[in-house]
Amino acid sequence: MRSLLFVPGHDARKLAKGLDCGADALIVDLEDSVPDAEKARARGVAAEFVAANRDRLPLYVRVNALATGLTLDDLSAVVRAQPYGIMLPKCGSGGDVARVGAYLSELEAKDGVSAGSLRILPIVTETAAALFEMASYARDAGPRLSGMMWGGEDLATDIGASSNRADGRYTPPFELARSLCLFGATAAGVTAVDSVYTDFRDVEGLREEARAAVVAGFGAKAAIHPGQVQPINEVFTPSDEALREATAIVAAFAQQPGAGAVNIGGRMFDRPHLTAAQRVLARAKQRR
Ligand code: COA
Ligand code: MG
Repeated sequence: MRSLLFVPGHDARKLAKGLDCGADALIVDLEDSVPDAEKARARGVAAEFVAANRDRLPLYVRVNALATGLTLDDLSAVVRAQPYGIMLPKCGSGGDVARVGAYLSELEAKDGVSAGSLRILPIVTETAAALFEMASYARDAGPRLSGMMWGGEDLATDIGASSNRADGRYTPPFELARSLCLFGATAAGVTAVDSVYTDFRDVEGLREEARAAVVAGFGAKAAIHPGQVQPINEVFTPSDEALREATAIVAAFAQQPGAGAVNIGGRMFDRPHLTAAQRVLARAKQRR
């Protein structure tokens, strides 16, 4: 998965558009992009959309945060439609993921959905307190955890920051949150998902941020507008040159299975390079 597009869950027109823009996954939103007056209706629209389109691409449903008291009603409405997974915003710890996992187990049993089939993708940096719990995901989240995403918008509100960027770049508190998500996800053995780029007309800025995410080790990036999907997909698809190099490294180690390091055209490659090359090839094999 390279791109995950957020679509407001009450907006049937945008939902239909989201299907055809090349996104690797959609996040059908019941949270921040849905006004309070539409929350109840959005559950029905989202469930119907998921049931009708779940075979076309992975569909996550973003439920409202545990603190709102709306989460269980959101889950009750959508689990029977069998989305690929649930996105949990304002997640506080791996324990919160386990709690949602327990709700899912109850609902899967009640609705005749295969046990353990729904995944959970939490947003792990939306409160200051959550930043101190990053190691808890590896320990407590359980087998439903399918990735970890970071977000800097709600975090800005939580800490009272008037902006999360200066001159277009994230300020140090937000860089730290981003890094912690990457470390937490790696420790938990799941993909780290980079946050949204809200200035959706600025495609060059988006590309630059996506490139930095790939370099750092993120496996995917969220989008908020269809125009962001293609640029993200391009940046997260390994280039022909990267593929050639990765293939050469894997082939060289295959020819010399006992070697700790190999020589390819006068450059040294050792075991960590082999691991990185295998990761590049795995990324290239992902859908599209
Ligand atoms: N998913 C699917 N379609 C979308 C879309 C999205 N996230 N964002 C825009 N579109 C559609 C629009 O409906 C429009 O299609 P139309 O002309 O056929 O109706 C087309 O893409 C172009 O949209 P544009 O006019 O450029 O933007 P907009 O003013 O309609 O929408 C936003 C701007 C920000 C309101 C919209 O992109 C959006 O709702 N994004 C998602 C917000 C969200 O989910 N936030 C929570 C996560 S942080
Ligand atoms: Mg939010």
